[in-house]
Amino acid sequence: MMSRINNLEDYAVDYRKSVTEPEKFWAEQAERFVWRKKWDKVLEHDFHDYNVEWFKNGKLNITENCLDRHLLNRSDKIAIHWVPNDPKEPDRTFTYRELHEEVCRFANVLKRNGVQKGERVCLYMPMVPELAIAVLACARIGAIHSVVFGGFSANALADRINDADARILLTADFGPRGSKKIALKEVADEAMENTPSIRKAIVLQRTGDEVNMVEDRDLWWHDELERVDNECAPEIMDSEDPLFILYTSGSTGKPKGVVHTTGGYMVYTAYTFRNVFQYKEDDVYWCTADIGWITGHSYIVYGPLLEGATSVMFEGVPTYPDAGRFWRVVDRLRVNIFYTAPTAIRALMAQGQEYVELYKLDSLKVLGTVGEPINREAWEWYHHHIGKGHCPIVDTWWQTETGGIMISPIAGVLPTKPTYATLPLPGIQPVLLDNDGNELHGNGVEGNLCIKFPWPSMLRTTWGDHERCKNTYFSTFKGYYFTGDGCRRDEDGYYRILGRVDDVINVSGHRLGTAEVENAINMHEAVIESAVVGYPHDIKGQGIYAYVVCDADKLEITTVPEIKDEIMDVVIDKIGKIARPDKVQIVRGLPKTRSGKIMRRILRKIASGETSNFGDTSTLLDPSIVDSIKIGVVKDE
Ligand code: WTA
Repeated sequence: MMSRINNLEDYAVDYRKSVTEPEKFWAEQAERFVWRKKWDKVLEHDFHDYNVEWFKNGKLNITENCLDRHLLNRSDKIAIHWVPNDPKEPDRTFTYRELHEEVCRFANVLKRNGVQKGERVCLYMPMVPELAIAVLACARIGAIHSVVFGGFSANALADRINDADARILLTADFGPRGSKKIALKEVADEAMENTPSIRKAIVLQRTGDEVNMVEDRDLWWHDELERVDNECAPEIMDSEDPLFILYTSGSTGKPKGVVHTTGGYMVYTAYTFRNVFQYKEDDVYWCTADIGWITGHSYIVYGPLLEGATSVMFEGVPTYPDAGRFWRVVDRLRVNIFYTAPTAIRALMAQGQEYVELYKLDSLKVLGTVGEPINREAWEWYHHHIGKGHCPIVDTWWQTETGGIMISPIAGVLPTKPTYATLPLPGIQPVLLDNDGNELHGNGVEGNLCIKFPWPSMLRTTWGDHERCKNTYFSTFKGYYFTGDGCRRDEDGYYRILGRVDDVINVSGHRLGTAEVENAINMHEAVIESAVVGYPHDIKGQGIYAYVVCDADKLEITTVPEIKDEIMDVVIDKIGKIARPDKVQIVRGLPKTRSGKIMRRILRKIASGETSNFGDTSTLLDPSIVDSIKIGVVKDE
């Protein structure tokens, strides 16, 4: 069995096999792991009435594969190397043996607090080793983890806890980030005022600052650890038992809980980690994402640990204490593989060369990007200044729903091409469809990116609402998984992701639904209606532009700058700082068709600075609105 794709020919062989004999192909990959009972059938699927099962009736525990499996040969190898926000604080490292022990102990804490197999545990944590430990502890006992990014507000956290009906909340006093501290416990307290399902909150002391502890509900993490021993047998799970829920935004309604299951997710994250990054036994690998997002789940925790890698986990931000932070850590830890987001690259690029020139960066072998399209300038800068021209850049396209990397170069094996995610990984069958659902064959075409065959780590459902999953992903184009992205396949057959074709905006690699932001804005009492669009932003990729119609009477009492600030505050309160509009324009009306539909196309153009070429505006109810909006457009500072 081929364990790694080493050259173009391997890729071609693997790819062909994955298409002609998918079950055989994935069964061979799955054989590498510890199964308590082998599967009866590799794949069962139906893309119409959506249902997918991989490694049916297989029994396993993913942590046995992430941890126990390595105890024989890698027990003293570092599994997690943690770098704190404050460079003056010491690093913390965990060997595979230590991590195994910590995970078992915390699993016992969860058990002691009554957590049952299949129950949901919500994690609202800083980027500390305890977060990874707690994630794995959930998986150890078969509890379903739902990690909520620490930048979300109390309202957003409560919504996610309630949707998942989580019983336990894991949090910390504060989360250090750059020169600030995020008051996680305070936000959690506010959220817990509206989460009847929560029985207990287990609170980690990260900074030691004082926080409010509610009797009979809040427990200290360190106290709980003292009450348990360090042995915990892994719960035997079915291959299709849910492993985790992760909330993500779509074009309509509130965020949905994407559900990933155990067996397929394990096989695919390990396969992609090993191949895309060409991870070799002694490599030091660093992914700068937050575990609150899918990238952190798949490529800080599960993928690397499944492969027995050393995974660096970083608590801080790229610009603290200065813009050389990443590079200092790379040199100090001799990082070989570095995986980050285009928005971070652009932000650092804007800070100038001097921060890079202070460092050698000679340990680097492979660079990666994820989360949003990378523009050519950022790609070139990353290639020349960070990779010194010799590190392949893997521009990895994938989604929360896909669980793992889908279209990407394989480092050093597939050629790279700036701004291109290049080619599908084995097992992935992308197609481009026109708006009528016809497959576009051949090269030099552009259309809606869909996937026509299942892969092991695809989402299984959206928590509590399978219809919604079917409608969102499998109804736009019958018989296909629809990604929501537009894509071009160039003359050479290489894929270039063009961005979302739905009402999702991607701000600094964070996915936000325009409807979600509008709903928050509309909660302001002076607001009658609003429309939110994305516009090109130098650092963030996309910025958020909000057009807001206010009640004229209320506007007379409050000034326009005041109301703009209030609107931003409402969004911060309902969702979090990541959704704060960059620009708010108060308008007298929105451009609507006679049937009442907002013409977002026009709003997008105005927000991106265009003043003409609005196309056909004859169907507008009141075409003069467009001119009035144009006059009031909010310019860059
Ligand atoms: C976008 C992140 C271009 C895309 C793993 C996708 C990308 C959405 C790339 C998913 C890339 C992700 N090039 N666009 N390499 N990677 N995207 O769920 O629009 O947070 O649909 O998953 O990010 O974002 P999500």
